Amino acid sequence: MSCTTPCRIGVLAEDSRYAEVADELARHIGVVAVRAEDERLVHEVSLRVVVGPEICVYSGHGRNERRIAVDFSAPALQQRVQTGSKDLLIRACGLHKENHRVRRVMDATAGFGNDAWVLAAAGVEVIAAEQDPLVGALLRSALNRARSQGLAASERLTLYVGDAKELNAPEPIDVVYLDPMFSAGRRKAASSKSMSFLQDWLHDKYSEQDQQALFERACDVALARVVVKRSAKAEPLSSYPPTFQIKGKTHRFDVYQLGNGSA
Ligand SMILES: C[S@@+](CC[C@H](N)C(=O)[O-])C[C@H]1O[C@@H](n2cnc3c(N)ncnc32)[C@H](O)[C@@H]1O
Repeated sequence: MSCTTPCRIGVLAEDSRYAEVADELARHIGVVAVRAEDERLVHEVSLRVVVGPEICVYSGHGRNERRIAVDFSAPALQQRVQTGSKDLLIRACGLHKENHRVRRVMDATAGFGNDAWVLAAAGVEVIAAEQDPLVGALLRSALNRARSQGLAASERLTLYVGDAKELNAPEPIDVVYLDPMFSAGRRKAASSKSMSFLQDWLHDKYSEQDQQALFERACDVALARVVVKRSAKAEPLSSYPPTFQIKGKTHRFDVYQLGNGSA
């Protein structure tokens, strides 16, 4: 299990209808399923994954309680979608050009799916891969909700919970996008409550070598380009220089144009 502090995590069903799903998720994450009736145990776990019509995570108790969930209709994300072709990721993936040929993007490090959602909202098919089973479950829950709300981008978003390096997409992928996890020992200020949760939860899960291997796989898979998000001052992920960079204040996108760089 990943957590910076001694962290006990339990999975709880909101009510008996969700007990089976909660048990399965607990098995998947490799933690205990906690019965809501067992109040002492519920109070002891510092991270509670609650399974109901949606899946969310609570940390702390009482006034310190913090809820983490993925929500594709969140105002901040909606606002970002409205930015359209000015969004740096959209530009880095080449989607701002009127006649672009990008049809399918793989977001190989989906996390909480914000970037994947922005890409899908821009009109391309997105395959979002997330390796961590808890993050994957939060993402799946949000995607199901977005579909039930009839949000159009949700129909263009396909989720794969597993290692993106092992994903064999059935259709050609034009662009692979990577936003690798913060490396061990190099914590940075998280931009939001959700990012700070991700950072704590996954802090020692991925090594630099994992990220290199993912980059190499991305170069094998993408037809047109690989886009890597880096913090503004970080070294490029690869020893190959990027074809070009798109710079923001806190982060930048390194773009590696490949054989069919026309996209
Ligand atoms: C910084 S977060 C991405 C945040 C995301 N761009 C967003 O908009 O929410 C990185 C995520 O990549 C996932 N990840 C890292 N390596 C992976 C791999 N090989 N396959 C799938 N997911 C991976 C981590 O579990 C983590 O959730």
